[in-house]
Amino acid sequence: MCGIVGYIGTKKACPILLAGLSRLEYRGYDSAGISTIEKNRLSLMKVKGRVKNLANLDGIDNLEGTIGIAHTRWATHGKPSKDNSHPHQDNSKSFSVVHNGIIENYNELRKFLTDNGYSFYSQTDTEVIPNLIHYYFTKDIANDELKFLRAVKNACLDLKGSFAIEVISKLYPDNMIVVRQDSPLVIGTCEDEKYLSSDIPAILSYTRDFYLLNDLEFAVLTRNMVKFYDKDLNKIEKQTQNIEWNASAAEKDGFDDFMLKEIYEQPTAIRETIGSRINLDNKCEFDELQFTKKYLNNLNKIYIVACGTAMHAGLTGKNAIEKLCKIPVEVDIASEFRYRDPIIDEKTLCIFISQSGETADTIAALKLSKEKGAKTLAISNVIGSSITREADYSIYTHAGPEIAVASTKAYTSQVVLINILAIYFAEILESCDIKILNNIKKDILDLPKKIEETLKCNEIIKNFAKTIYQEKDVFFLGRGIDETVAKEASLKLKEISYIHSDSYAAGELKHGPIALIENGILVISILTDSNLVKKTISNIQEVITRGAKTLVITNQKLDKNMFDKVIDIPETNCFFSPILSIIPLQLLAYYISKEKGLDVDKPRNLAKSVTVE
Ligand code: G6P
Repeated sequence: MCGIVGYIGTKKACPILLAGLSRLEYRGYDSAGISTIEKNRLSLMKVKGRVKNLANLDGIDNLEGTIGIAHTRWATHGKPSKDNSHPHQDNSKSFSVVHNGIIENYNELRKFLTDNGYSFYSQTDTEVIPNLIHYYFTKDIANDELKFLRAVKNACLDLKGSFAIEVISKLYPDNMIVVRQDSPLVIGTCEDEKYLSSDIPAILSYTRDFYLLNDLEFAVLTRNMVKFYDKDLNKIEKQTQNIEWNASAAEKDGFDDFMLKEIYEQPTAIRETIGSRINLDNKCEFDELQFTKKYLNNLNKIYIVACGTAMHAGLTGKNAIEKLCKIPVEVDIASEFRYRDPIIDEKTLCIFISQSGETADTIAALKLSKEKGAKTLAISNVIGSSITREADYSIYTHAGPEIAVASTKAYTSQVVLINILAIYFAEILESCDIKILNNIKKDILDLPKKIEETLKCNEIIKNFAKTIYQEKDVFFLGRGIDETVAKEASLKLKEISYIHSDSYAAGELKHGPIALIENGILVISILTDSNLVKKTISNIQEVITRGAKTLVITNQKLDKNMFDKVIDIPETNCFFSPILSIIPLQLLAYYISKEKGLDVDKPRNLAKSVTVE
């Protein structure tokens, strides 16, 4: 996690860095800091708390430097404090460093440096980096133009773990060096300015041309130029990538919070996800994939691996692939998958879903699957993200930047994309009646309109939230595809309202959890599958009998008098009902959080992009 930004150009760096940090605050927000090059000296200002505390520091407006680096932190090693916040400097204060990631061997390196006379002021893993750079710099007797780069390179080759690092030095007042390994970092470029950031949206207002670094590639930046080197310091050439997202996509556009804006962006996001995936011949199209009928027929298993919300989208993929393609699918949490010795070989396809494409556990699971001989397919929202560069194949959700920590439009776009993928596989395999597939495709094209219709429940949900925001426990129930939505809805509520909630397969309730049902407890049920609706209603009856309050999200014709509140959503094919049924529940989590006066976009302890294990 953590957000890093950098600037090297002709303008004052400080305001640009502070603006960039504010946009990256979703990545971490317990402390922030900045370092600029000021007439052969390095400035250093740090503060515990939010970026606005940094912006209010006395003297920050006096920073004149046109080169600088900055950081907003999500603490891993060392509690949030001024000392532990970045940038960190070496003992001689010649180098300033910001770092996102974790240095796993920092204890060893700290001991090595201590034995060599270095002292430490923080409890962070990062503080070893500037000192190691200083160590190699002073040991290097050559005095050529690569000396600074050599010191950074040698230091980085000693680091185990993940890192995205920006380094400036008072000894090189016109340069900045950056490098990454398993942590995100992009370089935005204009004629005489270069912008660095952990993600693209934070610097989209300055440029749409980006360089993307691979692991252990070093970039040496001046105002006018970027030179790239591999880990042996051989020069490498890189082309810029033009990113189509526009800057306003990363602004609130009149909404109170990014989350609400992103909920409302879902019709557009889904239109973009569908894009031209369904062609004029009514066939699903994935030009970037080369799966043959023979390959798919030979598959023993598909794994879908992801974390958090993305994993919940994966569950809907399992439903569609198994039903339409008759290939067994296992869905797993990336942090579990990688340590459970999964059975993988060349007859396994592993699909990884990640909005950011930078989630450490998902990337590690992907690398493991490749090593074991599986083909890998990444589904991501971020073009050029780490996961897409590691995978054999990548497809994009095109939902536009998602800023709020709690994922909304990324989830629904992932659900759409993996379900289209299932249809695409079924078309290749000829495993499903063409008429059924055509009906599903028709439903896909209707989705954006139906999402718009569903969003009309906003006021009802807002008022309902006022009546229940003080609940302490909430239960979510569903069967089949509705259970996957129950899981996602429960996560959404926990994440931003801090209300304890759990989700259950409705039929499982009586095997234990029903013991928790008591008078007045809120039970929210999702009912969209006509084959299962009667069964779920029986389960809801069981909780009503025990005094529960009930909210039902449904596209079925029900006897509404049975329940305390019913939200009707449009009918659609079961494969896609999660896209509609989650919307009232996204709104419910949002309005409960607002009622409680919480920070919706930046919930406590969470970060959007989890780049640590
Ligand atoms: C974090 C976020 C979740 C997200 C998960 C996976 O935990 O708070 O909202 O679902 O990471 O993120 P990814 O970028 O891999 O989809």
